[in-house]
Amino acid sequence: MNKVSFYLVTDTHYFERSLGAEGAAFENYTRCEQYFLRESSSIVSAVFDRIAQDQETDIIILPGDLSKNGEKESHKSFVKELYKLKEKGKKIFVLTAGHDYNEYSRAYKDDMRIDVEGTSFDELYEFYKDFGYSEAVAFHQRTHSYMAQITDGVRMLAINCDSFNNPKGTMDEELMAWSKVQLDKAKEDNCSVFAICHYPIIPGVPVFDLVGDAKIKDWRTVASFLADNGVELALTGHMHIQSINEFYSEKGNRLIDICTSCLVGSPAKYRKITVDDTSTLKVETIDVGDFGMDLGGLESQEYFDRQFRRAIINRVCDALRSGDGISKYFKKLGLSFVENGTFGNLSNLLLLKIDKELAKIRIIDFIGEVGIGIFKGDMPYVKGTAVYNAISSVLKRFSFVIKRVEPKLSKGGDKIDLEKMLLDTIGNNKGFSDNDAEFKLR
Ligand SMILES: [Fe+2]
Ligand SMILES: [Fe+2]
Repeated sequence: MNKVSFYLVTDTHYFERSLGAEGAAFENYTRCEQYFLRESSSIVSAVFDRIAQDQETDIIILPGDLSKNGEKESHKSFVKELYKLKEKGKKIFVLTAGHDYNEYSRAYKDDMRIDVEGTSFDELYEFYKDFGYSEAVAFHQRTHSYMAQITDGVRMLAINCDSFNNPKGTMDEELMAWSKVQLDKAKEDNCSVFAICHYPIIPGVPVFDLVGDAKIKDWRTVASFLADNGVELALTGHMHIQSINEFYSEKGNRLIDICTSCLVGSPAKYRKITVDDTSTLKVETIDVGDFGMDLGGLESQEYFDRQFRRAIINRVCDALRSGDGISKYFKKLGLSFVENGTFGNLSNLLLLKIDKELAKIRIIDFIGEVGIGIFKGDMPYVKGTAVYNAISSVLKRFSFVIKRVEPKLSKGGDKIDLEKMLLDTIGNNKGFSDNDAEFKLR
C-alpha cells in the first residue's frame, strides 16, 4: 500500500448540550448508557484541538454515528467543529450512520423526555457535503457511499452500510457492484485502496459473530469481496470496541479490520494510523484525556470507565429483574447470586476447585470488569491464567447445556464451538494487540 497517515475518530455521538440533558428523566436514561451527552461537545472540541496541532498528518476520518440521535441542533454544532478543523488545514472525510438520521431525537428536562427536531437521511448530504462527498471521485447517491482520493496514490472506499436505504449493516448487491466498478478503476489508476465502513466487517470478538447487529450482514462475503478486490485494510466503528482482526478469503487474500471505540464514552479512544513507504502499517491508540470539565477529582479514564461499568451492571441486573412465571423465579435467584455472590460461592455450588485469590472476587465486580475489558481490547484471561481456568471449568460443568444450544446458534451455517468462542473472547490469542499494532501490508 502507498504511504498515508491519518487520524481515525469514530462514534462521536455529538449532542448539543443546550437542548437539555438534566433532571430525573436524564438520570434514569444514563443508568444503562455507555456514553456521555452533557460532556460530548467538550470531548469533541478538546480532541479536535489536539489533532489540529499535529503537523504530521492533515487527514481525519470519521466513520459514522456523528450525532447522538440525529438532533438537527447537534448536527449544526458538530459541523461547526468540522469547519474549524478544515480552516486549520485539515482534510476531513465522514460517513453517516443510523444514529445520524433516526427517529429518536430527544432531550431531557426534569422528569420529561422531550422530542426535538431530527434530521432526515437526505438532509445529511447538505450538512456533510464538504467532508468527503462533493470532492469524491465517485458518489453513490442512494446510500451516500463514495470513493475519495485521500492522497497521491491512495483512495478510500467509504461504504455506507447504515443509510436510510440500506439500514443496519447491509452492503447489498447493487452497492457491492458499484464498489467493484470503483475498485477496478482505482487499480487502473494505480491507486491503493483502503475501506471505511460504520459496521465492523469482522466481528470484534468471537462471540459477536452470534450477535446480529455486531457486524455487517454476511460478513464473510463482504470481507472476501474486499480482500479479493485489493482492499487489505478496513476501518470501522459502531460497536464502540477496540479490536483488530484479520480474515483470509478462500483465495488467501487478507483483510485487516481495525474497529475503534466510541469517542465520548469508555473506552474513549481514537487512533493515529500510518502506512510508511515500506508498506508497514502502524496503529497507535490515543486516550481522549482531559477535556476541560470538572470530573469531581477523577481522571478522565476513571470517569469514563465508572459510567460504563455502572451501565453494564445495571443492564445485567435489569435483565434479571424482567420476565414472569418460572423464569422470573430463576432470574430472581440469579439476580441475588450476581448481586451478592463470589467466585468462591460459585465454585462451591458447582463443586469446582478455583484459585484462592479468585474466590474472594464478587460476581458483580467481575461482570463489570470483563464487560469493560472486552471493549478496551487485549483481554488478559488467556490460557493458563486463574480466570481462564475457572471459566473453562464452569463451561465444562455446563457442557450438556452448551451442546444443546450450539445447533440452534449455528442456524444451519458453520458448526459453532461455543466454549472456544467464549474462551477466545476473554483472552486475546491473536498474536497482535487490539490497540497498538504493526502489520506489513502488500
Ligand atoms: Fe455508535
Ligand atoms: Fe452505530
